[in-house]
Amino acid sequence: MRTELYEIIEKRKSVRKFDMNSLDSVLLQQIKQFGEEVIPLIPDIRVKFNVYSHEEVKTLMAIKAPHYVGIYSENKDNFLLNAGYMLQQMDLYLSANNLGSCWLGMAKPSVALPEAVDGLDFVIMLAFGNPKEEVHRSSKEGFKRKSLEEIREGSGYEEIIEAARLAPSARNTQTWYFICKEKEILVCRRHTGFVTEHLMSRLNTIDVGIAMCHLDLALENRGMERDITIEDITVPKGFIHLATVRL
Ligand SMILES: Cc1cc2nc3c(=O)[nH]c(=O)nc-3n(C[C@H](O)[C@H](O)[C@H](O)COP(=O)(O)O)c2cc1C
Repeated sequence: MRTELYEIIEKRKSVRKFDMNSLDSVLLQQIKQFGEEVIPLIPDIRVKFNVYSHEEVKTLMAIKAPHYVGIYSENKDNFLLNAGYMLQQMDLYLSANNLGSCWLGMAKPSVALPEAVDGLDFVIMLAFGNPKEEVHRSSKEGFKRKSLEEIREGSGYEEIIEAARLAPSARNTQTWYFICKEKEILVCRRHTGFVTEHLMSRLNTIDVGIAMCHLDLALENRGMERDITIEDITVPKGFIHLATVRL
């Protein structure tokens, strides 16, 4: 199953047009079951997935889909990184099953639903359903992404960073940055500047969690042992260090 998630990275895309018919209940159950099996980046943060219908969601930028899946989390250090890492596994799972999906930075559960579930706060959601447009990219040419050189300092780990390079991000901002050293990758994000930082830091941290999901799947698929830690390391000015991957 995890190989399937890795292999779909080169094809996935955001799908914004959906067939509004509900998915079959067995398939919906399988999706909910997958939510129970998603691997955390930070195991001591409690999270929960919740699936909603279109009527249960408030979307400002109206992406109309028959279903949505949201992640709720304990509000602990690095919970945004963890939420991005976990919900991206769901995005890849949906795509691997030929279903369309799209991250939604502005959508919220409707007022009729609780903002918190079991003491966990709503973080972010994906829209999903049967696609009414191409569900996959036919080639890597279709990705609008920064080059490897723009997002990596140092050398090595090309195929690993490549998986992270293709990750989706809010408004395609791609603020991730990887400092590669011998047996170590420092995962950072760019400070977006004082005007936009307070607006974008939440989504950009989720984005880095998404890229870490891709990076980790690439390592796992090569059978590479790795240890991911969250610790304070000084990085060049203009960057914020979020995690270290030791190999
Ligand atoms: C955290 C996050 C929030 C996003 N929010 C929205 C959104 O509100 N509306 C939308 O149409 N797309 C949204 N997107 C999708 C991005 O625009 C899309 O991932 C990016 O442009 C790259 O395109 P791709 O996913 O097709 O590769 C979001 C993506 C992420 C990761």
